[in-house]
Amino acid sequence: MARVVLEQLTKTFSGAKGETVYAVKEVCLTVADQEFVVLVGPSGCGKSTTLRLIAGLEEATSGTITIDERVVNRVEPKDRDVAMVFQNYALYPHLTVYENLAFGLKLRKVPKPEIERRVRAAAAILDLEPLFERLPRALSGGQRQRVAVGRAIVRQPKAFLFDEPLSNLDAQLRGQMRLELAKLHRRLAATMIYVTHDQVEAMTLGDRIVVMKDGCVQQVATPLELYHRPANLFVAGFIGAPAMNLFRGTLEADAQGLWFRAQGDPAAGARATLRARVAPEHTAGLQPHVGLAVVLGVRPEDLAPAGEGTPAEATTFSAPVELVEPMGAETYLHLAAGAAPVVVRVQPDTRATAGDALRLRLDMARAHYFHAADGRRCA
Ligand SMILES: Nc1ncnc2c1ncn2[C@@H]1O[C@H](COP(=O)(O)OP(=O)(O)OP(=O)(O)O)[C@@H](O)[C@H]1O
Ligand SMILES: [Mg+2]
Repeated sequence: MARVVLEQLTKTFSGAKGETVYAVKEVCLTVADQEFVVLVGPSGCGKSTTLRLIAGLEEATSGTITIDERVVNRVEPKDRDVAMVFQNYALYPHLTVYENLAFGLKLRKVPKPEIERRVRAAAAILDLEPLFERLPRALSGGQRQRVAVGRAIVRQPKAFLFDEPLSNLDAQLRGQMRLELAKLHRRLAATMIYVTHDQVEAMTLGDRIVVMKDGCVQQVATPLELYHRPANLFVAGFIGAPAMNLFRGTLEADAQGLWFRAQGDPAAGARATLRARVAPEHTAGLQPHVGLAVVLGVRPEDLAPAGEGTPAEATTFSAPVELVEPMGAETYLHLAAGAAPVVVRVQPDTRATAGDALRLRLDMARAHYFHAADGRRCA
């Protein structure tokens, strides 16, 4: 197993008009030995290209890739000792499951008894033995996916690379395979780099998550760090479903302390009327930003219907309920409050219905603040 280090890794393509397109831009990342790192981000942000660069399927424009302390930029893919699992499985249709599993080892001239030993070991982990004689066309999607993973395991690579391996599966099977992959990682104690645009997969599988946008790394952190301390507005909006509620405004100071005042356009409705007291724990950090345009972020669970017990000094906010979405274990209330709804996560026994005017309490101690100018987290 191995550490994988990317330094200033850049890959450009030439666009339709001959312009330079940065698929991956100056990416720096150290994946520790045995770590499970997930690359996540919207379509086209450079996830697959990063993985393909590590595998050697693309040549880096600049920067270095180091696997197990060896710079591999000039090393052939087959000699990099990494195994990649693709979204479309890429099984050989005319070979049986056993032959598919054995094929890569055969090519590498691994002795037959060793091939058999490794294939059986991988098959035992993935429960593939009953399928050995089948052709891929006689397998379900989940079974094909297991064969594709098995093919990577028999290689005993230094690192596993997964490119959206579950995205062709239905939701239930996806959840199941996700668990299987987490167990597999524990069992093999292998270095794994996993690409997805599904944030649930990212949050549940990753020891750490790399959020990418436009070829650039936005933040590298553990799942909970990303959720609780997003480095910028992009990460704040991307991680978490329903997404964080955002309010544009300015920071003001008066004798009582710091305030966030929503600004703008009355068309923004209730969103524009918010005046919220900055919690004591944020005051010192926000002091340098007084007078500046900021964005206040509040997660849906940090808003709650205000009731009789709500103290007078609490920050509240009123808006009409537009939509009630019962999810079973919880309910999402969508409030009409300007351009985007404000979403609140509440207990499923809520009695709120569409059309009600609802007063909400904001938990300001859990608020997030970002610079309006560049989206960076304040303090
Ligand atoms: N061979 C190529 N030629 C030109 N542009 C390319 C090529 N491969 C990728 N790109 C561009 O590089 C960018 C990153 O692509 P990449 O496939 O890495 O994205 P991704 O994050 O994997 O997206 P998705 O979630 O849709 O799979 C995109 O803008 C894409 O159009
Ligand atoms: Mg991709």
